[in-house]
Amino acid sequence: MQIEEVKSTGKEQRVATHSHIRGLGLKPEGTAEAVAAGFVGQETAREAAGIVVDLIKAKRFAGRAVLIAGAPGSGKSAIAYAISQELGPRVPFCPMTGSEVYSSEVKKTEVLMENFRRAISLRVKETKEVYEGEVTEITPEETENPLGGYGKTISHVVVGLKTAKGTKQLRLDPSIYESLLKEKVSVGDVIYIEANTGSVKRVGRSDAFATEYDLEADEYVPLPKGDVHKKREVIQDVTLHDLDVANAKPQGGQDIVSMMSQLMKPRKTEITDKMRQEINKAVNKYIEQGTAELVPGVLFIDEVHMLDIECFTYLNRALESNISPIVVLASNRGICTIRGTEDLRAPHGIPRDLLDRMLIVRTAPYTQSETQIILDIRAKTEGLKVAQDALEYAAEVGVKSSLRYAIQLLTPANVMAQIHGRDEIHKEDMLETGDLFFDAKKSVAIVQATESLFL
Ligand SMILES: Nc1ncnc2c1ncn2[C@@H]1O[C@H](COP(=O)(O)OP(=O)(O)OP(=O)(O)O)[C@@H](O)[C@H]1O
Ligand SMILES: [Mg+2]
Repeated sequence: MQIEEVKSTGKEQRVATHSHIRGLGLKPEGTAEAVAAGFVGQETAREAAGIVVDLIKAKRFAGRAVLIAGAPGSGKSAIAYAISQELGPRVPFCPMTGSEVYSSEVKKTEVLMENFRRAISLRVKETKEVYEGEVTEITPEETENPLGGYGKTISHVVVGLKTAKGTKQLRLDPSIYESLLKEKVSVGDVIYIEANTGSVKRVGRSDAFATEYDLEADEYVPLPKGDVHKKREVIQDVTLHDLDVANAKPQGGQDIVSMMSQLMKPRKTEITDKMRQEINKAVNKYIEQGTAELVPGVLFIDEVHMLDIECFTYLNRALESNISPIVVLASNRGICTIRGTEDLRAPHGIPRDLLDRMLIVRTAPYTQSETQIILDIRAKTEGLKVAQDALEYAAEVGVKSSLRYAIQLLTPANVMAQIHGRDEIHKEDMLETGDLFFDAKKSVAIVQATESLFL
């Protein structure tokens, strides 16, 4: 199994709907402040989520599941997002939606499995012997091609490295010359070369060159301290899914045909169960040896009622495994039919046996004043100016129809205000936009009243 040079396959998160939320907003002793970290009200649910975070951090919660249940727009997804913020970037957080499992190409359980493995990472700590310093020279030395013919080949490369303490000249294998070229290393860069594997990492450009150009995206790093040749602790976090992908990559040649076939092959089908078992075995060995540590993260499945009975059975089994993340589920359904069954009805559309194993957190509806504070925070993050009467009216709308509808009206209302030559949203802008964009309740009422006009 290879761990080195594993590229991260983490999903890009673009959670603009929750960008005002920076955490759960709890006091050190775990109680929720009324308004903190962008979160308003919903104290009980936030405190419960805080305990979940503590358990995850203490690694005492693997293989458990939490269900966040509550009305639409009551902040379930926001709580899940806040949990990920609290855990920090080193603990994997994999968000997905229940309906993601339905694909014509990939099996449902395969999608679930992949996301399970995205939510568990392996922290590998290694002390490595490295050569580190600022590059003072790169000189490839050439010889006649031993196989005859014209052209010359590189027999070795001389690299000069400088640290605060001294300089060293290394005579290195030609394969390292290739890595140097690949990493685009030039004189003045700070690099390190691993002694055992010969892999080269470019750390950044040395401070001494910081004033070279005015505009540059390069990262400047100080001249390394200590000797050129030293031991260095390297910590790497890779998810199990990263390992799957890295090991499934077709090891084709460099010619055009095999490169093309690598492009055409869908990655997903290449990861086999057998390969995963091999990886698990290797992972377990690393853990036993103490060179690696398992970091169970969070798998968040939103709209969990979209899963069907087959998926629920799989979930039940996957939670039993000794390498399982914490699963957080969210649903806004009451009692409904479990997908994939004829007429089996259950709370949240989740089978009773699975529901029994879960901790359930409930979100409560918001009061008008809470709604107003949320709308105010939201307007500020979107950079909108809202007059007081408009804000009050928006809060009223939020309570009457839904918080999400009120939030969504803000941006078009701003456009409306601009049309009227203002940079502040007034109540009449809110009223006018409300006439243009219907909320769900109004729309339903219209459909019911004019049923004969629809097909
Ligand atoms: N307590 C809160 N404080 C601040 N913002 C909130 C709060 N609750 C919800 N929001 C914001 O309101 C919007 C709707 O909330 P969210 O998407 O979390 O609802 P939900 O419970 O997941 O609804 P659904 O069941 O429809 O998925 C989001 O933009 C969210 O960030
Ligand atoms: Mg949601």
